[in-house]
Formats: sequence, C-alpha cells, structure tokens
Amino acid sequence: RTRTAILISGRGSNMAALLAAARDPAYPAEIALVLSNRADAGGLARAAEAGVPTAVVESRGFRGDRAGFEAAMERVLAEHRIELIALAGFMRVLTPGFVARWEGRLVNIHPSLLPAFPGLDTHERAIAAGVRLHGCTVHLVSAGVDEGPVLIQAAVPVLPGDTPAALAARVLEQEHRIYPAALAWLAAGKVRLEAGQAVVEGTPAAAGALV
Ligand code: GAR
Repeated sequence: RTRTAILISGRGSNMAALLAAARDPAYPAEIALVLSNRADAGGLARAAEAGVPTAVVESRGFRGDRAGFEAAMERVLAEHRIELIALAGFMRVLTPGFVARWEGRLVNIHPSLLPAFPGLDTHERAIAAGVRLHGCTVHLVSAGVDEGPVLIQAAVPVLPGDTPAALAARVLEQEHRIYPAALAWLAAGKVRLEAGQAVVEGTPAAAGALV
C-alpha cells in the first residue's frame, strides 16, 4: 500500500473520510501520517483516536519563511517514509519548489467546481454569483493556487434561500464521497497525464463526474 500523509489545518472531516476508507486492507493507500500546520487542529485528536501517527509543524513559528516551514515538513514526511500527500483542508499555499518535488504525488480537495471559485469563501461566492450548480473537485496540485489536473468532481444544486453553511454541508457530503475514490486511483497508480490532463486507467471518464 502507498504510504500516504494527510495534511490538515482544521477539523479534518475529509481526513476522517480517508481514514475510514483506508481501514479496508484492500484500499491502496495506507494513511501513515496526519500532519497539521496548527497544534489546535481538531483533526489531530480524531487521527490519534484512529491510531494514526500525527505530527505538527507550526507554520506560525516560521513567520512567512515558507521554505523553512516546508523544509521542516519535508523532514517529518521523510521520517515517515511518505510517498503520497493528500491535502485535506490544509490552508497554506505551498511553494512551486515543494509542488514540483511532489509532482503527481500531491492531491487536493477544493470546495467548488474548479476552475470556478478558486480561493476562499467558495460557497458564499457561488451563492452571490447566482450559479445553479456548485460542488467540489479533487485535483493534482500544480504551481498555481487551486489549479492542476482534475481527477473527480461532484455537483450539487444551489437551492433558493441557501445560506453558505447549508450549501457547504451539501458540498461536504460529496467531498467525503469523492476524495476516497480519487485517492484510491492515485495510490493504485491508475492516474497518468495526457496533454496536461489526468486520465484514470480502467475507469470510465464518467466515474470522475458525480451529480
Ligand atoms: C473542506 O471543505 C475542504 O474542501 C476545504 O476546507 C474544508 C476542510 O474541511 N479546503 C479548502 O478550502 C482548501 N483551500 P475538513 O477539515 O472538515 O476536511
């Protein structure tokens, strides 16, 4: 199984969905580490309860020294012999150098149908824009923020009177469904790039589009 680290900054509900999937010995990723950039991330306790090694590299301590922060993370990742990284609500932007080093082995979940609404406050912005469909995306990470080849997306309706919180909950349910699927593809070595786009071997393209 592919030794995988989950990087978090907060409550870790996507992390929990990945941990649950990886409890199945047939799941191709083994969650070998949960790493947080904040000591107060709620997900750390959940990971520890599940018996998964945890580590904290406090980004705050590095005062904008992103390279130093990442070097500290790299040391922890190396100690745990990590082969694959899944970002799950990890709220730090990674440098192009880090992204290049982990190219093809670094995956993220984002709460919108990219390329719509990169960045923060995606649910609020989707409601303000008046879109009828919103959702979430799992993608390989490339140098731009919330950019990179799409592996899977799920769409949900935006309903009249939706609040950002109500819409977020509807999207989050789908996040928990698509992230384990996409990580399994990547960990099993089924993903290759063709002209900059991700192709998943042995899987119909429609498997990457859930409504
Ligand atoms: C999730 O909605 C995730 O998609 C989002 O943060 C939330 C984390 O929740 N990620 C981003 O916005 C990344 N820029 P979780 O900690 O419960 O998984």
